[in-house]
Amino acid sequence: MDNSKKTKRKILVTQALPYANAPLHLGHILEAVQTDIWNRFQNLNGNDSLFFCADDTHGTPVMLKANEMGIKPEQLIADVQKDHKSTYELYGINFTNFYSTHSDENKKYSEYIYECAKNNNLISKSNIEQYYDEKEEMFLSDRFIKGTCPKCGAEDQHGDNCGVCGASYDVLEVINPISIISNSIPIKKESEHIFFDLPKKNQMLKDFLKNVDLQKSVKNKLNEWLNDDLKKWDISRDAPYFGFEIPGEKNKYFYVWVDAPIGYLASISNWAEKNNLDMQDLWSENSEYEIYHFIGKDIAYFHGLFWPALLSAANFKLPNGINVHGFLTINGEKMSKSKGTGILAKEFANIINPETLRYYFAAKLNNKVEDIDLNFEDYVQRINSDLVGKYLNIASRSASFIKKNKNVLSTNINKNILNNLILKKDEIVSLYETREYSKLVRIIMDLADDINKYINEQTPWKKDINEAVDITSTAINAFYIITTYLHPIIPNITNEAFKFLNIKKISIDDVDKTEITKINNYKPLLNRLEKIIIPEEEDMDNVNLINIDQFSAVDLRVAKIVKADHVEGADKLLQLTLDVGDLGTRNVFAGIKSAYKPEELTNKHIVLVNNLEPRKMKFGISEGMVLASSNDDGIYLVSPDEGAEPGMKVR
Ligand code: 2FM
Ligand code: ZN
Repeated sequence: MDNSKKTKRKILVTQALPYANAPLHLGHILEAVQTDIWNRFQNLNGNDSLFFCADDTHGTPVMLKANEMGIKPEQLIADVQKDHKSTYELYGINFTNFYSTHSDENKKYSEYIYECAKNNNLISKSNIEQYYDEKEEMFLSDRFIKGTCPKCGAEDQHGDNCGVCGASYDVLEVINPISIISNSIPIKKESEHIFFDLPKKNQMLKDFLKNVDLQKSVKNKLNEWLNDDLKKWDISRDAPYFGFEIPGEKNKYFYVWVDAPIGYLASISNWAEKNNLDMQDLWSENSEYEIYHFIGKDIAYFHGLFWPALLSAANFKLPNGINVHGFLTINGEKMSKSKGTGILAKEFANIINPETLRYYFAAKLNNKVEDIDLNFEDYVQRINSDLVGKYLNIASRSASFIKKNKNVLSTNINKNILNNLILKKDEIVSLYETREYSKLVRIIMDLADDINKYINEQTPWKKDINEAVDITSTAINAFYIITTYLHPIIPNITNEAFKFLNIKKISIDDVDKTEITKINNYKPLLNRLEKIIIPEEEDMDNVNLINIDQFSAVDLRVAKIVKADHVEGADKLLQLTLDVGDLGTRNVFAGIKSAYKPEELTNKHIVLVNNLEPRKMKFGISEGMVLASSNDDGIYLVSPDEGAEPGMKVR
């Protein structure tokens, strides 16, 4: 291909923003890997591609989780953001910027888009009736209601659908509704909500769906919704809510799904500012950048309808493409976001080289909306057979011959062999472009097979040194080409391989130009995988055993409660002032309010974890933890027998 004719495309890529109320699971990594491979490929192919993400920080679940932990939502989302960033790093996800929806930029864009919508007569108000939890003083969305299914009578069903008969219904139809937050019976209450006039955007959305690059099956589904009776979209939530207040309103907040996708703009603008670039050039009506979103099939509705409607209300460029993927199952079983099941991405990276998961996902991903199964046996087998047995085997078996030639390669190489690999470049490029990763992985592994066959047939071990070096130099040059092809998928392993090959600049256009002249000694870049065993939480016998040193590291002390107080604004906590003898006094917040009145506690001796890291909570700093036993029915403080003095060590 003639490079001078190749125009450099400018591309903005996003993946869906993970919620800031939980750590990442492997489903998040599937999407991140799919997106990261595409972004890396674009850059490898000479384009200017930027990859943005952020934490999705607003909404009721974040607020409740922070309450439960006794910390401010700001603290929770800061902790989670750190955890998310470091987890993505483990998997080599190369964001241009990873930001937060709880940011000045996001507030600015949310308010701006809302004002534009208002000016375009797209905003209206009306009263709706909802369940209200009088104990918690909050309105309850469907997911916080449980009750008896109005269709089949099954008890303990969700607020909007029944797990037994599969019916969907309006939450107000549920029989004997219960608030799952406080376990109390909610009342019905009216309040005024703000609506975005989606029906007015019907034609615009139909046009958008005609033009956008999006899987046919998803387009059909979205068009069905458009042709059905499209309703106005409720974009407000009443206080208490963790989010942005709606300008000009009192105690009304933007629904999290308003400012979540606007977080894409916020992340880009935050990065642009730091790099002295103009947002106008990146994402405005006439931007030169192509815009692609990668998302899961469960949020196609938001990205295919609400999001373009919001963008168009404020005259922003609409996305060029929305790439929708299916769900991840593990060993054939469904992972559940809401139930918190599924393997945490951080744990998995402790068990196995995370880069191998990138390869496995690539080997299974295509551009369809199909679910993908991560099967542990298949995984081990595939990594060992493809990456270790085929790809890296070329380098390891060839390097030993070239070492005998002081690591210098021969120039007398078999060009035909290499040409076969180079000829596949355009097909591989096009498969990357269309996200047909599983197909291209198969092609690349076939090429690796061919090279191993070539070595087997040429039998360098039977040849004199010169001929052996000629053969294996051909193989090493082939290894270089394959490494370049695999680079977007396994960037760390291939970067090590490039070091071995003494290659500094990597571009897919160079596969037919570069010749390897000298290598470094080969060090194994990946070991064969053993059977994958995920430690089970319940398996107390093995996994949770600690040794005596670990136990001794916990400094347990007798302490006397000298003062106990209620904590304003906390449902579960009491504030304790503890006398720890010679060690002084401690301030501790303990979640024991449901079981003890403050006055019962004064002068009681308890056991304190004395060397727990102090923890900043909404109400102050907690300097330790008191031991208590508990089950669903009650909480019981652990106390030493009479005679124990404050400060005594507990062993
Ligand atoms: O479904 C989710 O996990 C959402 N947090 C995705 C948000 S994507 C974007 F719109 F912000
Ligand atoms: Zn039912």
